[in-house]
Amino acid sequence: MIKSPRGTRDLLPPDTALWNFVEAAVRDVFRAYNFHEIRTPIFESTELFARGVGEETDIVAKEMFTWEDGERFDEKKLIEEWLKANQSDDPHQVQDGRVNVQGNPSFLTRLKELGVQLQVWRGIQTKSGLTGRVELVAFRDKVSADAIEALRKARSLAKSEYSPEFQNHSISPRLVFPDRVPILYSKKTGGIFGDVIVEGLPGNFFSSSQSLTLRPENTAGIVRAYIEHKLWDRGLNKFFSIGPMFRRERPQKGRYRQFYQIDAEVIGPPSSGSESPARDAEILEMVATLLDRVGITGWTLELNSVGCTNDRAKFNEALRKALEPVVAKMCSDCQRRAVTNPLRVFDCKVPEDQPVIAKLPRISHFLDEPCRAHFDEVQAILKSIGVPYTINDRLVRGLDYYTRTAFEFTHGALGAQNAILGGGRYDGLSEALGGPPAPGIGFAIGEDRLVLSLSASAESVIRKPDVYIAPLGDGMNGEAARLARELRRHDLVVELGDETFRLKKSFEAADKAKARYILIVGENEVKADAFALKHLASGKQDTVPRAELAGRIAQGG
Ligand code: HAM
Repeated sequence: MIKSPRGTRDLLPPDTALWNFVEAAVRDVFRAYNFHEIRTPIFESTELFARGVGEETDIVAKEMFTWEDGERFDEKKLIEEWLKANQSDDPHQVQDGRVNVQGNPSFLTRLKELGVQLQVWRGIQTKSGLTGRVELVAFRDKVSADAIEALRKARSLAKSEYSPEFQNHSISPRLVFPDRVPILYSKKTGGIFGDVIVEGLPGNFFSSSQSLTLRPENTAGIVRAYIEHKLWDRGLNKFFSIGPMFRRERPQKGRYRQFYQIDAEVIGPPSSGSESPARDAEILEMVATLLDRVGITGWTLELNSVGCTNDRAKFNEALRKALEPVVAKMCSDCQRRAVTNPLRVFDCKVPEDQPVIAKLPRISHFLDEPCRAHFDEVQAILKSIGVPYTINDRLVRGLDYYTRTAFEFTHGALGAQNAILGGGRYDGLSEALGGPPAPGIGFAIGEDRLVLSLSASAESVIRKPDVYIAPLGDGMNGEAARLARELRRHDLVVELGDETFRLKKSFEAADKAKARYILIVGENEVKADAFALKHLASGKQDTVPRAELAGRIAQGG
């Protein structure tokens, strides 16, 4: 049985109703705050994340799904090179086969269909006539069973289709491919194909490749789009996106390899006010509203300021110094981080390292005056609008782009993976990606975790059928379909039965579908243009004229 890959899962009904409920609610909230949807590709060039998120972060260093792509095989070049190599021996021995296909105009077409690009005649004219060999040559990016098979087919075709004078020649198939991995066509491997000559040609027959990555997060992608489409022309931009992210993490409750984020970003030129602490407070207040709206209570907002480039340099220096005497006892990751990017030591999850990390200097002691004032102002606004928070000066977040305000919302019900969402300011990210100064702040909700911490059940948000239509007897399917069409136009949820069902079976089906009403469509009803409508919970039944059906069903409890 083929199962979904490790760390991925199918979201099935009725749970998908909860997901839709959450997404509809957040879309409402985003509308009220004037955020607009942006959809970016789910894969981007690897460089975007290396430069945006940071090479030394766990996400980039360990968790990305990355592959080489865009490597195109240059067939034309391989053919040219091969011809050059062969003709240099004796130009008369290599000819494009067209001249040889006497009486068989379709033969070349058939060869083409098989992907056999060339026929070459190597022969000499002797007194007794032509002798020699016909080669059928296929050019491929690698040796494959398919190519060998195609060549064998081409040879049998040639044997039956060549004109009689060629019947005497030996016909030999040849597979030519770029000699990148010599082992592939070693004499041994060549032997396996026996009747097909396998020939590797040295040289580069591939166009340049690019490295691509399934997005592990979407802030870098959105800022990339902001730069690419010069979105600053529109002033302050507020974006949201909803979609899958991919991280190769060890799966556990609330942690998946494909997970979903609801992402929101405010970004714009400094003149648009994007740097203002008012934006930070607005974003945090929006998150609080959002969580309230979907019914999540009991969250905690942890807040910190991670300072700006200025502070970071001083802080990193202090960290390096503090780590020097102790780092030898820490894990190998920390030893590396201590040299390359000491801030990332705070991401360490190795239990033995935690006592050392607890004693390291805190970023809060290194904030310069503007950063401190910014952070104070964020807090002052939060207090005035009544959004509760706690300061956690060890919170540095696992991505390199953060500056100043950084935050996480946690929830007790989630267990070890307790962060429902995280975010912060990233004032230098646009420049790091080659764009203009564009301070920004945003967050991403882990939608899987949000759904896990919902108290609402899928049953409570799913919309059940308002009515089950039961066609009764031959020829009633059409009438029932007509009624269903009318009622659905009134925004009613309609489940449709089948005329072959007995009445009892229709009732059972209506119960199973959890419909509120059952509507009987029999010959008599159609004649009278009034239908038996039964409320399933109360058992109350009425005959209702067609024109009144939609209203009655919509009203009825
Ligand atoms: P992040 O903290 O890496 O931040 O992820 C945000 C949220 O995504 C986490 O709090 C968590 O709820 C969820 N999440 C992360 N990894 C997984 C996983 N493997 N399985 C399930 N859920 C997961 C970012 O991604 C930033 N881009 C947020 C941001 C936006 N900062 C500024 N703007």
